[in-house]
Amino acid sequence: MKAVRYHDYGGPEVLGYEDAPIPEPGQGEILVRVHAAGVNPADRQIRAGLRFRREKPFAFIPGCEVSGVVERTGSEVTEFAVDDEVYGMTGFGGGYAEYVAVAAGKLGRKPASLDHVHAAALPVAALTAWDALFEVGGLAAGQKVLIHAAAGGVGHLAVQLAKWRGAQVIGTASAGNEAFLRQLGVDVFIDYRTTAFDSVVRDVDMVLDLIPREADAATDALARETMARSWAVLKHGGIQVSICANPPPGPDAAARGLRGAYAGAKPGRDLLNRIAGLVDDGTLKPTVGTILPLREARQAHELIQRGHTRGKIVLQIEAP
Ligand SMILES: NC(=O)c1ccc[n+]([C@@H]2O[C@H](COP(=O)([O-])OP(=O)(O)OC[C@H]3O[C@@H](n4cnc5c(N)ncnc54)[C@H](OP(=O)(O)O)[C@@H]3O)[C@@H](O)[C@H]2O)c1
Repeated sequence: MKAVRYHDYGGPEVLGYEDAPIPEPGQGEILVRVHAAGVNPADRQIRAGLRFRREKPFAFIPGCEVSGVVERTGSEVTEFAVDDEVYGMTGFGGGYAEYVAVAAGKLGRKPASLDHVHAAALPVAALTAWDALFEVGGLAAGQKVLIHAAAGGVGHLAVQLAKWRGAQVIGTASAGNEAFLRQLGVDVFIDYRTTAFDSVVRDVDMVLDLIPREADAATDALARETMARSWAVLKHGGIQVSICANPPPGPDAAARGLRGAYAGAKPGRDLLNRIAGLVDDGTLKPTVGTILPLREARQAHELIQRGHTRGKIVLQIEAP
């Protein structure tokens, strides 16, 4: 099969478009014929050797989410059959390829109303947004949430899920994303480049930090500063949730009953099927800002590194 692989940690230039063996599905696994693979900041962090560094992992195929079709099932797989359309998380890698073997429990039925490119945009971002807003953040109808980086992969889905829950949503992004975010339902838009959010926001129940880290030193510094300043806009008993780092407590956090917490994607079939239902009933709509062929994974990593993606970047696998 064709796959994007690398043989050492490094910059986007280590990504090669190569021949690789088709993986063998083990017990409880499914061999998926991949049609599209989502691109995540984590893919580039792993490629750079910044996260999940392991001894001798090479040759490594990146890509932690896909949409495709069941090619073959391993032993003890009962939930899916050959030719079923599936989507989900692969783990930390394997997705940038024509085939990937995935634990059946990490896959759900692909939303019927979406093509594979748009379905591949969902698993990581939607599962993460769900965990942050609902499982960790406990967002309820009538509450107010401030979402930092509302226009990105996770952010644009978090906006829609928070609106669906019945919350009021304040979203930050740069000016070019205002119309996009208003169309997704953001009630209050803040251009983080021209307006200090803490000069206009007060008494929110939840702050959700999604600002991509490690794009460059300036973005990193701004993300840390944003996190520190966010305590002030929470109401008594509020929560700051980050999917990037555990928020260090603010100076008066304990006295004001504030909490900080980390959230992240938890792969699982039930939630993927629920998310597919929300897509098919028109509640949730993934935006794919950039579609590239698999062989252009290098360009995808250069783009994701800049930290200014609208919606998601997705790699499309050409028919063999
Ligand atoms: N814990 C987990 O399981 C998990 C899962 C997924 C992602 N993550 C992490 O979460 C972060 C976000 O992921 P993602 O996929 O959503 O990233 P992404 O799609 O690359 O995010 C890009 C967005 O960030 C916005 N942005 C950049 N700097 C900003 C700032 N200072 N204030 C407000 N918005 C800003 C950009 O808006 P403008 O272009 O308008 O500036 C752009 O729309 C990454 O660090 C990723 O590693 C963690």
